[in-house]
Amino acid sequence: MTHPHARVTLHPDFRVGTVDRRLFGSFVEHLGRAVYTGIYEPGHPTADEHGFRRDVADLTHELGVSMLRYPGGNFVSNYRWEDGVGPVEQRKPFLDLAWRTVEPHLVGTDEFLQWAEREGVEPMMAVNLGTRGVEAAAALVEYCNGEAGTRWADLRIANGRAEPYGVRLWCLGNEMDGPWQIGHKDAHEYGKLAAEAGKAMKLVDPTIDLVVCGSSSMQMDTFGAWEQTVLSYTYDLVDHISMHAYYEELDGDRASFLGSGTGMDRFIRRVVASADAVGAQRRSDKQITISFDEWNVWYLESRFPGESNLPIQRDAPRIIEDVYSALDAVVVGDLLVTLLNHADRVPVACLAQLVNVIAPIMTEPGGEAWRQPTFHPFATTARLARGAALDLRVDAPTFTTTRHGEVPAVTAAATLGDDGALAVFLTNRTDQVVEVELAHTGAIVSLEQGRQMVADHEPAVAGPEHAAKVTQACWSAVDVARAVTPVGTGTTTVRLAPESWTALEGRLARA
Ligand code: AHR
Repeated sequence: MTHPHARVTLHPDFRVGTVDRRLFGSFVEHLGRAVYTGIYEPGHPTADEHGFRRDVADLTHELGVSMLRYPGGNFVSNYRWEDGVGPVEQRKPFLDLAWRTVEPHLVGTDEFLQWAEREGVEPMMAVNLGTRGVEAAAALVEYCNGEAGTRWADLRIANGRAEPYGVRLWCLGNEMDGPWQIGHKDAHEYGKLAAEAGKAMKLVDPTIDLVVCGSSSMQMDTFGAWEQTVLSYTYDLVDHISMHAYYEELDGDRASFLGSGTGMDRFIRRVVASADAVGAQRRSDKQITISFDEWNVWYLESRFPGESNLPIQRDAPRIIEDVYSALDAVVVGDLLVTLLNHADRVPVACLAQLVNVIAPIMTEPGGEAWRQPTFHPFATTARLARGAALDLRVDAPTFTTTRHGEVPAVTAAATLGDDGALAVFLTNRTDQVVEVELAHTGAIVSLEQGRQMVADHEPAVAGPEHAAKVTQACWSAVDVARAVTPVGTGTTTVRLAPESWTALEGRLARA
């Protein structure tokens, strides 16, 4: 039987760039149960002496998360960080308007940063440029990174933390182009404020890196113009511009959903072009890179009622706890393929979010923590993708989708470690078996083992039992003997299951 065919050409000398570990970041926002009964639950059977759940921390490690963005998200745009530090019994609950939830302030900057430090995960902090501004932002940098002898650093020391935290990466607000954002601004207002806040923050600590807000999605009316205007104020100051994108299957349009990675690819190319246009106009040699600090599958249009329709709630309400299918996991794997293929311009990315809120990890209060199907492609990519992202040539048939136009039927990414460790990631977006010819002239490739996620047609059902059932049915070891055939020294063929994402590991040696 003949199968549709694609050809992927790789050469060890053709490289996109180095895979930055920060590409495998995630996100913890004060939203729903991400913090309370997510990472933090005093009294839980696995809670440590600080009240943080060991089971969730262990799954975070297994997921391979390198970095965590905190404390938001929309939340940060109305957050007074000073209200979340100092003796817990003196902290007063406040009404977070972003998610209309009473924030108890049991976890604040110190608790989060110390937890991240204990777990060996790099923090990425965001400052409030919605309801606040330059002074509060600079004060927070001083609180986190300052040496003894000034007001805010001394407050940190008085609160029990002598050593500066040394937080390196800082977001200048969140989604400031979005009308839903508390303290939403137009591009000129935000650009000027970000420039002044960033300037002050770098005067406190010149070693920090800054992320300026790009558009909240490519669908925003102001997309493109926003990036140009904001960067016209901040180009020389900032290191990265943010991108956010969420994908979902809408109206049963499976083809478009499976093509989401191509949508992400075009979005990245457009933001890179916008940033480079500003650089070119300034005759600047500096290159702004991308912090893709929110990406995931999120049933935003089809299941989320909208922030303003949420009732006021307290005690860690269940908000946007999307339940994922194996199809969602295939799309997540494919989005990772896109990110790897832009390793030169996307050093930072955050799967939004880590736990309970559109997350790969779910928990029950007082109960167990478990992996959603989307956990697996992320964990596998974070484990295998290291060294250089190779610049592949992919020749594949295409198909036309409603949302993303023409998209390739097969996508691929590959990484090569200094030690010759090779990882190949492949997505088959079609409903047929596809045979991929991997051409590697000048190199001997042996693919030894792999895992694959095959999409299902099952409605996603909440709970650990269903997640385990889906994982068992759809996430499996690749039968390398059947799927992978070496053909001489320069070619290997790989057969991909319909609607699947595959990660193969092996070795590459120069011929
Ligand atoms: O990740 C959930 C929300 O999505 C974030 O708070 C916001 O930045 C985005 O709109």
